[in-house]
Amino acid sequence: MDELRGKYIEAIAGATDEAALEELRLAAVGKKGEVSLKMRELGKMSPEERQVAGPALNALKDEINAALTARKAALADAALDERLKSEWLDVTLPSRPRRQGTIHPVSQVTEEVTAIFADMGFAVAEGPQIETDWYNFDALNIPSHHPARAEMDTFYMARKEGDNRPPHVLRTHTSPVQIRSMEAGGAPTRIICPGRVYRADYDQTHTPMFHQVEGLAIDKDISMANLKWVLEEFFTAYFGTSVKTRFRASHFPFTEPSAEVDIQCSFEGGTVKVGEGDDWLEVLGSGMVHPNVLRAGNIDPDEWQGFAFGMGIDRIAMLKYGIPDLRAFFESDLRWLRHYGFAALDVPTLHAGVSR
Ligand code: DAH
Repeated sequence: MDELRGKYIEAIAGATDEAALEELRLAAVGKKGEVSLKMRELGKMSPEERQVAGPALNALKDEINAALTARKAALADAALDERLKSEWLDVTLPSRPRRQGTIHPVSQVTEEVTAIFADMGFAVAEGPQIETDWYNFDALNIPSHHPARAEMDTFYMARKEGDNRPPHVLRTHTSPVQIRSMEAGGAPTRIICPGRVYRADYDQTHTPMFHQVEGLAIDKDISMANLKWVLEEFFTAYFGTSVKTRFRASHFPFTEPSAEVDIQCSFEGGTVKVGEGDDWLEVLGSGMVHPNVLRAGNIDPDEWQGFAFGMGIDRIAMLKYGIPDLRAFFESDLRWLRHYGFAALDVPTLHAGVSR
């Protein structure tokens, strides 16, 4: 037995891989292994002999099994050490550079506009882009026969056959959100609503989808003077320079009186510069909210009054950041996006500045 022990313990210690260990296991304690065969001989022994040989053989079997397990673990450890040495990785190296995405000028300018109006106490409201014709037209004092409906180049949604209700529309302006927020919050109120709008129109300064920001302020004694101050304050903050405005009498069904607002600019050398020169550029429509519109929003026009305006976001983005063609805004050309886009984590705020 000592001979068997000596032979196997030594062989196991010298085994260099798992296959060799398995061979040794079979040779020693496998079904036909040497230790197993010895155990079979126990039956032929006298009870006295068996009492000595039985436990000794069992102990030998246990010892060999333990040696096999220990050697197997040692081999695995050594293999892992070897791998760790050869597959060494410097985790302190900088990572490979990756292209960062950019914030689209429309998103950037929307953030800028929102920051400025938020500072003046305006909350942001939203409405659906697919509107009923009531919210998009009737509630805004634009009846069916009104020429404004035709002028809007409206996209109509398809209707199911047999459905005679007026079709839904892709909203042609953000003005329907005026009605929705009057209904939801009543008066007094101060909101802006930036968002997508749609009209069937396409050239260098028109795309079928574009962006507006609507403004609405209702209280007991709001006047055109407040509108003028708010807009001048806005343009000065937005363009980062004092900007003269010009209010031109105009007409919108949803305001009375109505004004279109121009900002001071120069057109020298083929580029537009805002806040200097003697030229004017139209940037928004505005006015005092028509009593019919207040009524449509469940607000009593004998008690409340207010101003509203609608401004093109893409238009003021082009002006501020010198972007010549509106159509490129929505072509998703990566070269354009990298050139005109903004850093993702650089959010415009009043304290950090709204201009880049
Ligand atoms: N909804 C108008 C448009 O899309 C813009 C507008 C003009 C909005 C006057 C207003 C407003 O709120 O008072 O052309």
